[in-house]
Amino acid sequence: MNPASVRTVGVATPNSRYDILIGTGLLDAPAPWQGLPRASRAVIVSNPVVDGLYGAALERALAPHYRQVSRMLLPDGEQHKDWHSLNLVFDHLLATGCDRKTVLFALGGGVVGDMTGFAAASYMRGVPFVQVPTTLLAQVDSSVGGKTAINHPLGKNMIGAFYQPVRVVCDLATLATLPARELSAGLAEVIKYGPIADMAFFDWIEAHIDALRACEPDALAHAVQRSCEIKAWVVGQDERESGLRAILNFGHTFGHAIESGLGYGTWLHGEAVGCGMVLAAELSAALGLVPAAFVDRLRRLIQRAGLPVVAPPLGTERWLELMRVDKKAEGGETRFIVIESPGQARLQPVPDDIVRRVIEQHGAAA
Ligand code: NAD
Ligand code: GLY
Repeated sequence: MNPASVRTVGVATPNSRYDILIGTGLLDAPAPWQGLPRASRAVIVSNPVVDGLYGAALERALAPHYRQVSRMLLPDGEQHKDWHSLNLVFDHLLATGCDRKTVLFALGGGVVGDMTGFAAASYMRGVPFVQVPTTLLAQVDSSVGGKTAINHPLGKNMIGAFYQPVRVVCDLATLATLPARELSAGLAEVIKYGPIADMAFFDWIEAHIDALRACEPDALAHAVQRSCEIKAWVVGQDERESGLRAILNFGHTFGHAIESGLGYGTWLHGEAVGCGMVLAAELSAALGLVPAAFVDRLRRLIQRAGLPVVAPPLGTERWLELMRVDKKAEGGETRFIVIESPGQARLQPVPDDIVRRVIEQHGAAA
């Protein structure tokens, strides 16, 4: 790997600064693993699929820096993002005598990343962790910004902490083994950055969507870099989501309802977000903020990314009930990220009757 081909995006929050390294072959290169917190122990947290593909390579990369490197595996899948799995990490850390300097490495997608981050935030009141995301979704979104969480049966990502990694290492080569459905799910979060922050990027995605789906390296590198730049910019201004950061949840109120309404793991998170963005754009149009042509344009791109655009028929009242269990809800009022104009988003409460109309008009009612 040529070091010049590594792209670096910095993240700065009031209490932390770290780099996101983006390149092909980083797991096999020495530089990305230098200069991390010193410790005698490192623990790689992964799942059987990702460990089988990349666990040995990461262990080799870390061996020169830690006296002992161990690997512990969580069950694979969103339905396992829960207390039971989280406790397996603590079991491993305690049973193998890990101390408060031990560095955790999250090797996997957003599920492994969110759980490892939460474990790192709470083990001995906090140990350092490094994100090594291996899905597109994790490289462009979940590994950056320090949101860590597990699900509760009554709501997604309801238990967690803000806790920043000390580095994020995105090896684009790992995306070569990602199933096409998972790649599409990641594209939903890439597309998201257009309507909320950067319509020039949206134009670029429209022009390169086929190259992205074909895993063309330059296209992937640009998509990951620009997504991380936008996310870093947002998180740098509002780490704890007291305002601006909420725009990153465009499509997520509808999306989380799909995920918990159908049962976690039925639709992929990215699929639910993709479809949720179509509904949130329809809502923005119903509020008179954006023209129908914009909604059609977004729907077409989401469809070209290989994502569903018709919401599942959960029943209107069930939809409303599910969306009330949302971290953005306040005083019993459901709030949505709406597009105020293409490239700009805001959080606002929307009366139930307008939401109901959008749900009923877009095939999701019953
Ligand atoms: P995931 O972690 O379940 O990974 C998807 C699947 O791909 C898994 O089966 C995994 O084993 C497999 N996989 C991972 N890397 C692979 C590779 N390189 N080759 C082959 N298979 C591979 O799903 P995800 O889409 O990465 O993440 C979704 C999760 O991320 C959700 O729980 C969501 O809530 C969370 N998320 C968090 C944030 C945040 O800011 N923390 C943001 C967005 C999403
Ligand atoms: N993915 C939403 C956030 O990081 O805030």
